[in-house]
Amino acid sequence: MLKANQDYLKLPGSYLFSTVAKKQREFQEKNPERSVIRLSIGDVTQPIAPVIIEALHRAVDEMATAEGFHGYAPDLGYEFLRSAIAENDYKARGCDIEPDEIFVSDGAKGDCGNIQEIFDRNCRVAVCDPVYPVYVDTNVMAGRTGSYDEKSGVWSDVIYMPCLKENNFAPLFPEEKPDLIYLCFPNNPTGAAVTKAQLQAWVDYAKRNKAVIIYDAAYEAYISEEDVPHSIYECEGAESCAIEIRSFSKNAGFTGLRLGYTVIPKALEADGVKLHALWARRHGTKYNGAPYIIQRAGEAVYSPAGKEQLKDQVAYYMKNAAYIREGLTEAGYTVSGGVNAPYIWLETPDGMSSWEFFDLLLEKAGVVGTPGSGFGPSGEHYFRLTAFGSFENTVEAIKRIKEM
Ligand SMILES: Cc1ncc(COP(=O)(O)O)c(C=O)c1O
Repeated sequence: MLKANQDYLKLPGSYLFSTVAKKQREFQEKNPERSVIRLSIGDVTQPIAPVIIEALHRAVDEMATAEGFHGYAPDLGYEFLRSAIAENDYKARGCDIEPDEIFVSDGAKGDCGNIQEIFDRNCRVAVCDPVYPVYVDTNVMAGRTGSYDEKSGVWSDVIYMPCLKENNFAPLFPEEKPDLIYLCFPNNPTGAAVTKAQLQAWVDYAKRNKAVIIYDAAYEAYISEEDVPHSIYECEGAESCAIEIRSFSKNAGFTGLRLGYTVIPKALEADGVKLHALWARRHGTKYNGAPYIIQRAGEAVYSPAGKEQLKDQVAYYMKNAAYIREGLTEAGYTVSGGVNAPYIWLETPDGMSSWEFFDLLLEKAGVVGTPGSGFGPSGEHYFRLTAFGSFENTVEAIKRIKEM
């Protein structure tokens, strides 16, 4: 009998950001005269850096010539990009990652969602709570999460690791033993980071428990503190227990260009099976590679001019982050994040629910943020603002929030 995938039907409601966008649209329809400032979705707003634009133009022109034309890209990505990544993101930080352990893709979201496919359906998944929704939702789609309790927002077979003010928004080791542990630092949505010693403890824990860490380092470029690691491979032994996923979206503004990569060290095994080989098989079967011109643009990220220009871009967003953080603190909010990440995480006032505060902020200030509860049960009574707006909009949003 023809049947839709029943696991997809278990997914509750619509995707968080669709709900946020819908509420904003309805508000605008009712109040066409009001200006609305979006500090909700984590999308960048600054134009692509000049050196990257030049690389794009050059690659486009190459494609118009017989010698410069490129068809299907190699499965793992072009050597020029994988070498630049290995050299700059890893070797320069003392991490022993080779170009052939890097799989170039069209962004981190797909990799975060697809990586679970190479693990058994019965693997137990542990996630930080709150968390980037893709990790849980894709495991729901894969039938790994059990049943959903509407009231608590909890999946019966997911191990939640609450990240609360009390533990500085860093997860504690769970009581139940996980097989797959999703960690994301600097974190979306809390903006929290962990020190190298904290991350080393997780690597040691994973090795002790024969678990694999899926480490999402999409916000690595925003780290400003010395003792915060940029890669999990800065920790001893991580190459035998961790996969790392990176994105060009937030460090270089590629949200519309699409580029990311996943590192699977050859030393990493699950029950004697090399995960590198499985991911290579998957990549080769289901994926035809990021476009040549985009991979050339990615290469330009690592050029001296690229590094300089992108440092300025990150600084621009982090100036917004500091402005939001300080402004909200002055206004009496309890605020964290915004130091190593472009996200500011605030406690809702007077015990309001996250969605109540969303409505209040939209109604009173015309500012759209993201309700913490959309990221998991422990996100309730919290709220996320992003630093990805323009400076002018950020200043205006904080002014309005202060006047609320
Ligand atoms: C934690 C995290 N990982 C991955 C992504 C997706 O990145 P990409 O644009 O490369 O798909 C995001 C996007 O917001 C994110 O917040």
